[in-house]
Formats: sequence, structure tokens, C-alpha cells
Amino acid sequence: MSFQYSDEILRRFRNPKNAGEIKNPDGIGMVGNRSCGDVMHLYIKVENNKIVDAKFKTLGCAAAISFSDLLCDMVKNQNIEDALKLTKDDLVKKLGGVPAPKLHCSLLAVDALHKAIEDFKNKK
Ligand code: FES
Repeated sequence: MSFQYSDEILRRFRNPKNAGEIKNPDGIGMVGNRSCGDVMHLYIKVENNKIVDAKFKTLGCAAAISFSDLLCDMVKNQNIEDALKLTKDDLVKKLGGVPAPKLHCSLLAVDALHKAIEDFKNKK
């Protein structure tokens, strides 16, 4: 099965600049999707309640990689409260839409962010 991806999804998929791991992160979020089996790790670095760095590692599809890469860009330099307001619809809009069967991939990134923030708060 092939999907019609937006140019922005393809651009981020081919060159995800936020892929990787943060050494000594302040929070880690790990989530998986039962239907497709994909797994996502999201790492955040926090200073003075502001996310100063975010990176991701995923065993996921092109959409999951693009959503995660964008999410990392969007939460950098945001405070925790504002980052928690980010929705999958925000991501979908910024990526120029996504094929319907790939909508769940955006949730993976958002859920991983929430888990990473929860982990950060628990460590404080
Ligand atoms: S198909 Fe599983 S995250 Fe995209």
C-alpha cells in the first residue's frame, strides 16, 4: 500500500534533524502502538521549566518520523505548560495534512511528549 504524503512529510522523513538521543535527559517518554507495532522514544532536556532540547528515536513509519521531528522543533524553547497544549491537529496542519490511515502516527509523538513531561515531573 502506498500513500500520498505532503512535501513537508517527505522532507522531514528524508532528513530528520531531531533524530537521536539526548545524554542525561530530564525526561524520557516511551510509547507504542498496538495496531502497527511501532515504538517511540522521546527525550527532553528542561531548564527553568523550559524545554531546551528534544530528540526522538522510533521504530516507526515515515509519518511517525516526520511527526516526531516536527514536534521536537515545536516544543523547543516552550515552557512545559505550553508544550502540553500541542495537539495532533497542530502537527497535521503544519505537515500539510496526512493520509487518513496515518493519523494515528501523530498521536505517537504527542503521547510520547506527554510521557516525557510526566517523567520529568516525577523526577523533580
Ligand atoms: S504506521 Fe505505526 S506509527 Fe505510523
